[in-house]
Amino acid sequence: MIVIKTIQEIRDRVGAWKKEGLSIGLVPTMGYLHEGHQSLIRKSAEQNDRTVVSVFVNPIQFGPNEDLETYPRDLERDRAAVEEAGGDLIFNPEPAEMYPDHFTSFIDTTETTELLCGAVRPVHFRGVCTVVGKLFNIVCPDRAYFGLKDAQQFATIRRFVRDLNFPVEIVACPIVRESDGLAKSSRNTYLSPAERKAAVILSKSLNLGRQAIEEGERDAGKVIDIITASLKSEPLARIDYVEAVDFGNIQRVGRIQGETLVAVAVYIGKTRLIDNFLINTEEKQ
Ligand code: PAF
Repeated sequence: MIVIKTIQEIRDRVGAWKKEGLSIGLVPTMGYLHEGHQSLIRKSAEQNDRTVVSVFVNPIQFGPNEDLETYPRDLERDRAAVEEAGGDLIFNPEPAEMYPDHFTSFIDTTETTELLCGAVRPVHFRGVCTVVGKLFNIVCPDRAYFGLKDAQQFATIRRFVRDLNFPVEIVACPIVRESDGLAKSSRNTYLSPAERKAAVILSKSLNLGRQAIEEGERDAGKVIDIITASLKSEPLARIDYVEAVDFGNIQRVGRIQGETLVAVAVYIGKTRLIDNFLINTEEKQ
């Protein structure tokens, strides 16, 4: 597995592929890859001639009291995971390569980043959009792949790509879960055995909300109450948010209709986990 560290080298390599007429898929990651990331790489390998996986723990998307220092890193493990899933190359720049001195330009978004994680992580999406925009300009992919576990991130990237005319197709991939329902995440490694058991409450509670909608409930407040009550039954869980929003603009909805995102963020011990489901329903008469 080739690992490239500099922007010039990756431009040369991808430029040569483009000259041969090959299509390029990009899977942006922060590394410590799991089966969720591998599903994105597999999808890209299916749809493109070459797949670039970026492995970069992006400092500007972490707030001052967040886990930038402790975020898990293991490039050797990532190399094997990319190879196994059919990726062709890893782009693994140092922070100074991506953010030279006096770096002062950012991609800032509104609307889709006001609520959910945007409300509690003020610099997060500016950091995500800026690094993703830079990766698009560096790699010039035909398609880029993002997991729906980070559904607000997906909606926000889709929006800035449209608003700023980036010539890239954004592909959404479904959430990959452990056998007990916990959404796969690099941050699951922070959980103690007792917390790991407790963490299943996120998907369990969301399933109750989904079931209520499938049985005809359309009042978003009632769905939120069902999920909240279930989350509160787990003593190790502390709710950050439970929200139902329109998936297009990530604004609150009163009724569940059209494409709705129902999302939670919950602390299990000190670890903040997110999960969600998307549901597309028409108003029942
Ligand atoms: O989803 C992530 O892992 C990150 O937010 C991303 C998209 C790789 C940007 O750093």
